[in-house]
Amino acid sequence: MVQEKWLQAAQLSDILPEVWEALQTKVDRMIGQLQGKIPHVAGEDGIYDSTIPDWWTSAFWPGILWIMHDMTGKAHYRDAAWDWDATIEQATLRDNRFHHDVGFQFLPTAVIKHKITGDKDGLRRGLQAANFLAGRFNVEGNFLRAWNQDKTGWAIVDSSMNLSILFWAAEEIGDPRFKHVAKRHADTVLRHFIREDGSVNHIVVFDPETGECLHSLGGQGAAPDSSWSRGQAWALHGMANTYRYTGDIRYLQAARRVAHYFLACLPDDYVAHWDFRANGGDLAGEPRDTSAASCAASGLLEIAAALPEAEGRMYRAAAEKMLLSLTQHYGTWDRPEHEAILLEGTGNKPAGQNINVSLIYGDYYYVEAIAKLMGWQRKIF
Ligand code: GLY
Repeated sequence: MVQEKWLQAAQLSDILPEVWEALQTKVDRMIGQLQGKIPHVAGEDGIYDSTIPDWWTSAFWPGILWIMHDMTGKAHYRDAAWDWDATIEQATLRDNRFHHDVGFQFLPTAVIKHKITGDKDGLRRGLQAANFLAGRFNVEGNFLRAWNQDKTGWAIVDSSMNLSILFWAAEEIGDPRFKHVAKRHADTVLRHFIREDGSVNHIVVFDPETGECLHSLGGQGAAPDSSWSRGQAWALHGMANTYRYTGDIRYLQAARRVAHYFLACLPDDYVAHWDFRANGGDLAGEPRDTSAASCAASGLLEIAAALPEAEGRMYRAAAEKMLLSLTQHYGTWDRPEHEAILLEGTGNKPAGQNINVSLIYGDYYYVEAIAKLMGWQRKIF
């Protein structure tokens, strides 16, 4: 049983140190359970699958380990995380599936490794990933192209989170080219992805020759005009990060607009459904997406950190409510054999893939957000 005290807690701050302790115990156990696996999805049995190193989710588990190492100084987290950027890099040397999401793969591995330890291979691998991502920029349409194959004019909101590797590279080598690309793409997010009411498009299609914006697609959301909650979270967190790197207030305003919409759509327990407009907006019975909740919570903390105390307070309070609910009602604390941290994530509902499962990126952003509340200052995204 989740301890009675946890269930009775009215505020996360009442139990935060205990949650942090429990998280360390959980991650220590996961190190033993996950050996050799590249975790992505765990179903009812609580056993994480093992994906390929070039899949976009390959770095969230080592990201958890690096955060744990950074927070505690304990060597076993660093040792378990150390080889991951080399393993992922190996996949770049053969036919592979890398695309717009290389930020998700090299920020929580190579970049954080270099930031914490000064490792030169981590630096090189991070810069290679930034070069690869910058090379996907379409100068006529001002967007980073999504995916591979024939989707030459497609851009997706998920890329908002990958911009951090471009900003990092610009700062690291003192070359603003990477920042210019990231800002241009971020401006496209402001113009073509974030709608007036703060909801967002998942996919926007451009003419790859002229750059003309053609139309939006539903993608992993219920419909082109719906509101996929993880896409909302990518935009919220991504634009808050973009403000941190640029100081340009337009990105912070955009992050706040998306946040206000996100918060207005939440059910009573503060954990997002997978799409805020699924089933005509009648969400009773629709699955949750705890990964959207944890990513949005971490992004809300980023917004709060960017604002004066009084203005930021409500974003922090909202993040804490979401994290308290995740902790009380969506955790695996009572199931030591379960290899994940959170339950009830939704990967891709329209495709019928990974519904009501544990998702490693949901686990990552939960750890990231809790670590921020515990004082973690180093930023990856
Ligand atoms: N980046 C893909 C997803 O959010 O599912």
